[in-house]
Amino acid sequence: MISKRNAKAVSAALLMMGTFAAFSQEIPSLKNTFKNDFGIGTALNNGQIEERDPKMTEMIVRQFNRATPENVMKSALIHPKWDTYDFVVPDKLIEFGKKHNIKINGHTLIWHSQLPSFIRGIHSKDSIQTFFTNHIQTVAGRYKDNIFSWDVVNEALNEDGTLRKTVFLDYLGEGYLAEAFRLTQQAAPNVELYYNDYNNEQPAKRAGCISLIKKIQASGARIDGVGIQGHWHVGKVPLKDIEESILQYAALGLKVMFTELDIEVLPRNFQGADVNQRVASNPDLNPYTAGLPDNVQQQLAADYEALFKLFLKHKDKVTRVTFWGVNDGNSWLNGWPVRGRTNYPLLFDRENQPKPAFYKVIALKK
Ligand code: G3I
Repeated sequence: MISKRNAKAVSAALLMMGTFAAFSQEIPSLKNTFKNDFGIGTALNNGQIEERDPKMTEMIVRQFNRATPENVMKSALIHPKWDTYDFVVPDKLIEFGKKHNIKINGHTLIWHSQLPSFIRGIHSKDSIQTFFTNHIQTVAGRYKDNIFSWDVVNEALNEDGTLRKTVFLDYLGEGYLAEAFRLTQQAAPNVELYYNDYNNEQPAKRAGCISLIKKIQASGARIDGVGIQGHWHVGKVPLKDIEESILQYAALGLKVMFTELDIEVLPRNFQGADVNQRVASNPDLNPYTAGLPDNVQQQLAADYEALFKLFLKHKDKVTRVTFWGVNDGNSWLNGWPVRGRTNYPLLFDRENQPKPAFYKVIALKK
């Protein structure tokens, strides 16, 4: 005989199981769906790293097995003063990864953007060299046993494939690229090392990227992979260039990753992700505040489907696909290049519900 109280507990448990089953049947998991193909990652912001919203955490853990910090490991934040590092949130990210079995990709050691403000006051080669060496040794050294990989250098190229004029190129010359890899390898010998950029699937920039990689390899430093960020625009995803890039980068012996994937649906007149490019606000540039029209939603779904088809075709070369944000509400594209827009670039909507694009991607494995 089941007592009244037990009966209540049993029915509560059944209800919970039912809810869970319904939830898991309704929403498949990206990381499980592609578990034999490639890692599935997301960028994480402070709130997500600190697990401020349990529902958000549950969703992240269910969908993703790789994560990249969206901002907290950038030098301005992790190394705010010459002799001061702030490891509080980065350490939490490492714990988050351990606890939830998510591999962390460090982003990023050497980048011309989001540099600490004290760099502006430095005008000697020796001091830049000291900052460069200390930064890599300290940050890469701290996480040498518990981070999976580093974007060692980020966005060192111009669109025409030449080297971007940065404080590092100016003071240290082009040897800084191989030196960054050599120093990271020394500080963190068991961590994978990547070069990361946007638009490096475009022919001219790709050629520059290949020559940069070859120089690093020729120097004797180790480089394990190349990240194609993947900030693309709806209806204009350059599939042919992407496929050609996967083949050419893999031919250098490198792993290929899509590291910051999003497909923007709002108008703008240039490609890429240069955070210094800004456009003034204007209602014509923010047309979907009341929701995404069905034809755009379907195009977005078709674009994601085509992309994932390509990733699956080359799953022997593609090791990770990381989205730049968990859901549309988190995306940096709501604030760039025009502030305060309503954008829809990811697979989950602002309530963490899957969009048609999500189901198209999942259906590729059915
Ligand atoms: O933290 C401050 C906050 O205190 C302040 O009140 C607020 C006011 O604007 O700014 C906050 O900082 C912002 C930060 O994001 C955190 O939200 C910065 O202004 C803003 O510039 C910064 O943007 C980030 C951008 O990189 C900066 O370079 C985006 O979140 C981040 O998604 C974006 O990520 C880059 C990748 O690292 C490299 N590839 C391109 C990609 C997209 O730009």
